[in-house]
Amino acid sequence: MDDSSDLRPRLASASRSTLAIITDPSQANPFGSIHGGVILRLADECGALAAFRHSGGPMVTTAAIDGFSFIEPVHVGERVELISEITYVGRTSMEARIDVYAESMSHPNPRKVGSGYGVYVALTALGKPKTVAPLLSETQDDARRDEAARARQAARLARRDAERQ
Ligand SMILES: CC(C)(COP(=O)(O)OP(=O)(O)OC[C@H]1O[C@@H](n2cnc3c(N)ncnc32)[C@H](O)[C@@H]1OP(=O)(O)O)[C@@H](O)C(=O)NCCC(=O)NCCS
Repeated sequence: MDDSSDLRPRLASASRSTLAIITDPSQANPFGSIHGGVILRLADECGALAAFRHSGGPMVTTAAIDGFSFIEPVHVGERVELISEITYVGRTSMEARIDVYAESMSHPNPRKVGSGYGVYVALTALGKPKTVAPLLSETQDDARRDEAARARQAARLARRDAERQ
């Protein structure tokens, strides 16, 4: 998809993206837990992947990362897997839900360690916000997803406007 994009509505599932790493000591704090900033960076990258999939590129930028909860610590040597999916689309912006799982290599059994949202804006090759395809809404679950996401986005924009002053 280029700037003359296909703007037919797209399923959220088509944007589903994953990212996985094995953590190493350079990513840990003195207590052996992985820095929250390391997880946030991965979350941002994984959310951006979903935004790329939905928008078709050529660029996206991060407008906000919020509502992120670190549920359990992640330890050195664990496999971390992130899964993202678009949960809201405005005109040029897209919200991705990002879930993070970790598992020990010796006892593989993924546990959820974090979750949050990223908002990405699709950009043209010239760096201007670009219209993206709407998110397909077919079921009652989709309608509930849309309503909750609209409320989150309204709260974000109110926060952004307050912070700009
Ligand atoms: C994100 C950015 C492009 C928005 O630019 P802008 O001049 O505010 O443009 P607009 O007002 O047209 O906003 C574009 C879209 O982003 C949304 N948006 C902007 N700021 C937002 C925020 N803080 N939270 C949620 N959505 C936001 C707007 O609602 C709009 O959505 P819509 O088109 O779906 O209605 C601009 O603020 C920017 O470049 N920020 C820096 C990005 C960055 O450096 N990120 C880190 C590295 S990737």
